[in-house]
Amino acid sequence: MTLDVQGMLKAIDAIGETLEMHKDYLTELDSAIGDADHGINMNRGFHKVREKLSAGTYVDLGAVLKDVGMTLMSSVGGAAGPLYGTFFMRMSMKLAGLQAADTSSLAEAMEEGLKGIVALGKAQLEDKTMVDALTPAVEALKKASGNGAALAAALESAVAAARAGMEATTPLVARKGRASYLGERSAGHQDPGATSTYLILSTLLTSLKERV
Ligand SMILES: Nc1ncnc2c1ncn2[C@@H]1O[C@H](COP(=O)(O)OP(=O)(O)OP(=O)(O)O)[C@@H](O)[C@H]1O
Ligand SMILES: [Mg+2]
Repeated sequence: MTLDVQGMLKAIDAIGETLEMHKDYLTELDSAIGDADHGINMNRGFHKVREKLSAGTYVDLGAVLKDVGMTLMSSVGGAAGPLYGTFFMRMSMKLAGLQAADTSSLAEAMEEGLKGIVALGKAQLEDKTMVDALTPAVEALKKASGNGAALAAALESAVAAARAGMEATTPLVARKGRASYLGERSAGHQDPGATSTYLILSTLLTSLKERV
């Protein structure tokens, strides 16, 4: 199984739906350690993304993800918009001209996207950010790719890793973003951005599995 253009469009649409469904949950998480807007930001961004994609015609994965990234950059303020925007833009460069992605090309693209987030936000592991969910997910994808795993199995392991990474943010003290202003008081709450990363990856997997 590969992830083709139609599959990607369907997955992005499903991600928009998931983020809409979890808007209040993400905002609640952000109200504990931030400014209570993460759910609103992500929902607004992906609403615009869905509008943009439904109006376009796409023949390669790069073009789809470029539009996702550009739309997030231009429609979502705060930290998450530029960070997720960069993630999808950097992925789009790796997938330019490709009509379908297999485990290895998706792993490479996500690794590139993660590098973009780190270059922009300078977060390290255990700073209590989306990087804590995305890094283990990328590692799992790369490992699966090295083992010749099929895409669905590879994504299963990436989603499990992202979930563990997300859950592991709870006891951490935030060292980046608005949550870091709270110092020790940021401990005991799950990071909103790590949670949206997990939701995005798990929805990609669910959507892909529905297609087969
Ligand atoms: N430097 C960073 N690198 C990676 N992720 C970050 C960084 N700063 C914040 N984040 C992520 O962004 C999430 C907050 O996104 P949100 O949409 O609420 O933007 P925001 O309110 O502008 O954030 P903030 O003011 O906390 O930076 C955090 O939960 C965290 O996962
Ligand atoms: Mg916020």
